[in-house]
Amino acid sequence: MKLYQQLADNLTVLIRQGALKPGDRVPSVRETSRERGMSPATVIHAYELLEGQGFIETRPRSGYYVGTQWSTPAPQPRTSRPSPRSTLLDVSELVFEVLESLRNRNVVPMGSAFPSPTLSGDLVAIESPAFYGCLQAVEALGLKAIEIPTHPTHGIDLACLARILDKHPVRACWFMTSFQNPLGALVPDEARKELVQLLELHDVPLIEDDVYAELYFGSRRPKSTKAFDQKGLVLNCGSFSKSLAPGYRIGWVAAGRFARTVGRRKVMSSLATNIPAQNAIALYLRQGGYDRHLGVLRRTFAAQQKSALQALHAHLPPGFTVTQPQGGYFLWLELPDHVDAIDVHRNQGPGSYRAIIAVAEGYAYA
Ligand SMILES: Cc1ncc(COP(=O)(O)O)c(C=O)c1O
Repeated sequence: MKLYQQLADNLTVLIRQGALKPGDRVPSVRETSRERGMSPATVIHAYELLEGQGFIETRPRSGYYVGTQWSTPAPQPRTSRPSPRSTLLDVSELVFEVLESLRNRNVVPMGSAFPSPTLSGDLVAIESPAFYGCLQAVEALGLKAIEIPTHPTHGIDLACLARILDKHPVRACWFMTSFQNPLGALVPDEARKELVQLLELHDVPLIEDDVYAELYFGSRRPKSTKAFDQKGLVLNCGSFSKSLAPGYRIGWVAAGRFARTVGRRKVMSSLATNIPAQNAIALYLRQGGYDRHLGVLRRTFAAQQKSALQALHAHLPPGFTVTQPQGGYFLWLELPDHVDAIDVHRNQGPGSYRAIIAVAEGYAYA
């Protein structure tokens, strides 16, 4: 500890213990300097520190004195005194304002509050079949799902979606338009335009889960539906989970007119963000490593798909069908009508099914 800090600490103890009382004169700089064998500059430094902390004060042409605020104990907070009348609460804006202020480096986060999101039973249109995580999210939020028939190659049936939007109070759609999980379907550009027109007509937002879009086998990335969106109705969601590693937990959303709401929900659900991982990935992107990595990944997945399809075509018994997606991780195998996939999963099925499972697993985990 530096000399001036030692001196300041000694005097603080004397003041706190009452040896030096409020209003008492503190020995002059010259006296202290002589008694303690310190330079006047050191003593002045210590006194300035104590003055800044409110322990002592200067009186013009008189010297230093113990601060008067030490005469009374620090005031204690009282029991709260709420209005006796009932009140309609209107605090959410303030809570969000406070939470959003945490992004400001100059704001010290002294506290935070998490109002519960009040959700109850809205209708969400989803693909059929849909990614199980989508089903879990709908379930966890207590929402209702309405399934839209989905073609394994070109995705959701727009005519059916139009009928459903006409008849039902759908509040949002959740679709994967590129290399859908689990079908691998890719929605063509024309259909994306039509989809956006339908959404605009009914003023229904689309959560576009686009996490596989980077994993195309062709020459270019498929356009996202967001690219056709003029009114901010599409929330395009991406992630590094499928193309780099799920452990980073880093994704993004281009949320259009919902950006503010989504930002608030993000703060409510996770508060903090993994900044070191974001910085590392930003560097990886800037230096071109990610692009090189994606090139290798795409070629690897395309080659794996080719060999898995060759094996499946050679071994699939009659009655089975399999898709050939243009990107992503998935192959969609359809079993003959009389075979129950859950049964196959639980019992491993007769020999031929077991072989299919082995081939399919080989593809998934190769
Ligand atoms: C279609 C789809 N969306 C989202 C996710 C989850 O992505 P993340 O790890 O970024 O939460 C997955 C992961 O399996 C997925 O398949």
